[in-house]
Amino acid sequence: MSVIKQTEILSPQFVAGHETTVNLIGSGVLALLENPDQMEKLRRNPSLTKSAVEELLRYSAPVFMATERYAREDVIIQGATIPRGGMTFAVIGSANRDESVFSRPDTLDITREPNKHLAFGYGIHFCLGAPLARLEAQIAIRALLDRLPDLRLKGSTESLSWRQSLVLRGLDALPVRF
Ligand code: HEM
Repeated sequence: MSVIKQTEILSPQFVAGHETTVNLIGSGVLALLENPDQMEKLRRNPSLTKSAVEELLRYSAPVFMATERYAREDVIIQGATIPRGGMTFAVIGSANRDESVFSRPDTLDITREPNKHLAFGYGIHFCLGAPLARLEAQIAIRALLDRLPDLRLKGSTESLSWRQSLVLRGLDALPVRF
């Protein structure tokens, strides 16, 4: 029997590779359940699975906030000055709903194109596990839709509880019926 120690659960590698993808699948399935037209479209068109997962990444932002960055020089962004050495956090969840980039940003559209979301970050620290995470979510969500034709939420959306984290955005649990 394999036992996972608490220290392993808390290790950054474990969070990077496991919890993020769990959150994508959980929040992603919730987003589909809340948007039955999109769920139905995806059920009927398996070829949309890839673009649906991109949209779920944008819409649900499993890593809600990037790790900290420090300004190398004074910089002014939208009128706010960040002094040299100042610490900043980029809120990916907000960038993914930027109305100057995405039309109808609060609408889930599994056919959205282009979809230049920042769910995996940007630049030199772009997520190392992005291809694996994408594949896992595509397989899991496809399998769920194919095998559970009557998948639905157990209880109301308001009764769901979300993890207390500024960085990761995900549900404690997603109770469903099928
Ligand atoms: C849906 C799933 C995932 C999401 C949304 C996600 C998101 C991110 C984001 C936003 C960053 C950049 C953080 C920053 O710039 O501060 C990042 C970095 C990273 N991710 Fe992921 N990730 C996911 C899955 C994975 C998986 C499955 C692995 C490994 C198997 C992984 C490994 C890493 C590593 C090692 C880094 C650091 C890269 C670096 O600093 O150069 N991630 N991830």
